[in-house]
Parts: sequence; C-alpha cells; structure tokens
Amino acid sequence: MTPQQNDLLCRVEGDAPMGQLMRQHWIPACMIEEVAEPDCTPLKVRLLGEDMVVFRDSNGRLGVLDEKCPHRRASLVFGRNEDCGLRCLYHGWKFDVDGNAVDMSSEPVDAKLRGTMKTRAYPVQEAGGFVWVWMGDPEAPAPFDTPTWAPTAETRISIVKMHGACNWAQVLEGSIDSAHSSSLHSSNMPTATDVSGSTATDTAWLRPSADKAPRIEVQRTSFGFRYAAIRKPIVDAHAQDYVRMTLFVAPFTVHIPPNDQYRLSQLLIPIDDENTMFYWIAWHEDPAKGISQDAWRRFCGAEIGPDVEPVTFRKVRNADNNYLQDRAAMKSGDFTGIYGIPAQDMAMWESMGAIADRGDDRLGSSDKAIFTFRTQMYRAAQAVAKGAPAIGAEADRVPHVKLVSFEGMVPKGDDWREIGVSDEERAIASKAPCDALADA
Ligand code: FES
Ligand SMILES: [Fe+2]
Repeated sequence: MTPQQNDLLCRVEGDAPMGQLMRQHWIPACMIEEVAEPDCTPLKVRLLGEDMVVFRDSNGRLGVLDEKCPHRRASLVFGRNEDCGLRCLYHGWKFDVDGNAVDMSSEPVDAKLRGTMKTRAYPVQEAGGFVWVWMGDPEAPAPFDTPTWAPTAETRISIVKMHGACNWAQVLEGSIDSAHSSSLHSSNMPTATDVSGSTATDTAWLRPSADKAPRIEVQRTSFGFRYAAIRKPIVDAHAQDYVRMTLFVAPFTVHIPPNDQYRLSQLLIPIDDENTMFYWIAWHEDPAKGISQDAWRRFCGAEIGPDVEPVTFRKVRNADNNYLQDRAAMKSGDFTGIYGIPAQDMAMWESMGAIADRGDDRLGSSDKAIFTFRTQMYRAAQAVAKGAPAIGAEADRVPHVKLVSFEGMVPKGDDWREIGVSDEERAIASKAPCDALADA
C-alpha cells in the first residue's frame, strides 16, 4: 500500500474518511461496569480522537457529554456528579444527561445564557455489557442493532479490556489472522490427540490439529467477510478438515471461533490514530454456562490491578519492560515467555510501530483475510469520502445476532460457507452478490 492508501485505511481523527465511516455506526465507549452506579465517578473516554465524559445520574440515566465544559473548556471529568447532573468544578455550571445547563451559578439569575445553554450530548445506548455512543449526525442516529453476544438478556457476558498503543487496523488484522495462533499462542493452544474441537481448560485451549499452515478461504459478504482457516486434523485427516471460521463485521467487530465452553468476539475500537481499546468478549446464551468475569480475566492475564491499570486499562506488561518477557521460561518450553494471550498479541502489534507501514510487508497465502480486510475497508473509506453510505450501515442488513462464528470438524467435500448462514443473509446476498461486486 502507498502511504496515502495506508492513511486512508488507518486514520480516524477529524475528517478522515475511515472516522466518518465509523461515525455511521454505534461505537462502544466503555463497559457498563465502569459507570454502573447512579452518581458514579465520571469516566473520561476518547474515541476517534474526540474526548468525552460518561456519567450516570442520580436517576440511573446515562450521559455522554463533550469532555470540555462549554464555559471556558475545563474538563468535566473532575466534576461533581450529584443531584441529576454533572457540575463543573471551575465555576459551577451544571449539565444534565441531555447536555442542558441546569445551573450556571457564576451568572446572574437573569443572564441571557440561562435557559439556552447546552453542551454536546451524544446519543447513548446500553447493551451487551457496553455503553454505546452515536458520534454521527445527532439528529439521525441509526437504529441500534442488538450485539451478537447479547441474544437474550440472560446471556452470560465476560469482558477483557486492554489498551493498545498502536493503530486500530493492525490490531484488527491480528483478530482475523488465524495462522498466528499456531505460533504466537502455541503454548496456550497446544495440540491434543483426544479432543475433536477447541477444548477449554483453566489454563489452555486444546486443539485437534498440529497444522501450522492453514489454508485460508475468504467469502465477502454484505457485512464484511467470513473466512475459514482449514487445517489437517490429527485424527481422520483423510475424511475431514478442522475448520475455524471467523467473521469480520465491519467496521470494528470480529467473531472468532468458539471453544467447547464459550463463544468469542472482539472489538477493536480506535481511541485515536495511534491508540486502540481492545475488548475480548467470552459469552454463552445459558447463564449457567460460559465463563465468569473473574476467570476470563485471569485466563487472559488481564485482571484489573495485577495486569491492567484501573480506568486507563494500560498494561502492566508493556513495551517499556519488554512485556516482562521471561527468557528462562522460553528455554524450558514456553513459546513466547510473555504471559497471557492478549499481551502476546500486544507485543506483536505495538512492535509494528504506532501506525504499521504496509508499504513494505510481504503477504503470503495465509494472509488472504488480511488482504481482504485492507482492500475492502480501503474501498469502503473511499466510498464514504464520495458520499456513499458506510459499509454495514445500510438499512437492509443482516441483524448482528444472526452472525456467528464456527469451529469443528467438517467432512471433506462439505462447503464451510453454508455453516450458520441465516435466511436474512441469504436474502440480502441474493440481491447483491458481494464477491461479484468486489471483483467488478
Ligand atoms: S469552565 Fe466550567 S464552569 Fe467555567
Ligand atoms: Fe492473537
């Protein structure tokens, strides 16, 4: 890619087309648990280079406001959250969740500003463990789509959150890169002869294949694409393939293959051009199954306190300390010497630089999904720059709850593209075949 093409793919701040594309989608701002209680500590959030403050008022309503007080630009993050509003410490102006100035204590009672003063309030939703904001036209928010990982109110949802000091696109390319799991995560995903699919224990996910060079097949869709990483299984390799299918749901969601205990989704949310919030969701429709929040964070090495800082979610294992890489552990068998799957990924993603230079990389056949992501999203950003609707934001789209990933043994000759496809998706695909469009 040329530097200009790379910028179009990666940059999201200001008027950048990719940022404008994302503003046509509801965007996760934080986890609900961070602003769970009425009159909670206000939370600073940065998305697409815009700074905002999230708070829950005395009545339990959520507000997301421009971080800067409209009076003289002091941060509302330091404000007092009480009596149904957020009060700026500097001169005491107070705003409700809709952005109305409900008190302006430094102004005379008959001041002209009173009654008309408003700050920017972003439309907000709560679903699937997340607070979502709408950063596009405030008068025309898109209909909210229930997240894939919240098909019912009872679904058990556990979330890992971690700050990445690099651009969102290289983080997302990690999520759609099945081949790396056989190398980078090989100590966490060891081969086992007595399992028929990904099998979760307290410390590892066992795999029925030792094949490190998967065959990648990609199918473009209306929502993004799905791809299969096809590996030779240890057992019955003549009759079946071990298929791990991943869905990319544009612009920033990936459903990776499940294991026998829970389903897995990832959100790669741009904080700004050079920082990303990484969310990894483990979920199960049956609240008695799945994995608890604490166990999930422990498994990932992403506990708040021991592994990531509270509030910022910056990593204890980071570039400044070489991710606490343990060379002695490597000599005794651990592949990376870095604890936890997300920290292993972060070491790779951040080492590429703040925004990876894609001019010089050498893609192989295992990078087909990466190539598809780059071309699809580059073209999607170009389209938005010309005034077309954003990919995935069309009125006629597959409901997100219908989009699920898959892993398991598939008899040779069966088409993995047919697995889990909903009637809604078939209907949309029949109107506009996406592979044909992409090739045109
Ligand atoms: S800067 Fe907020 S009230 Fe003055
Ligand atoms: Fe990874």
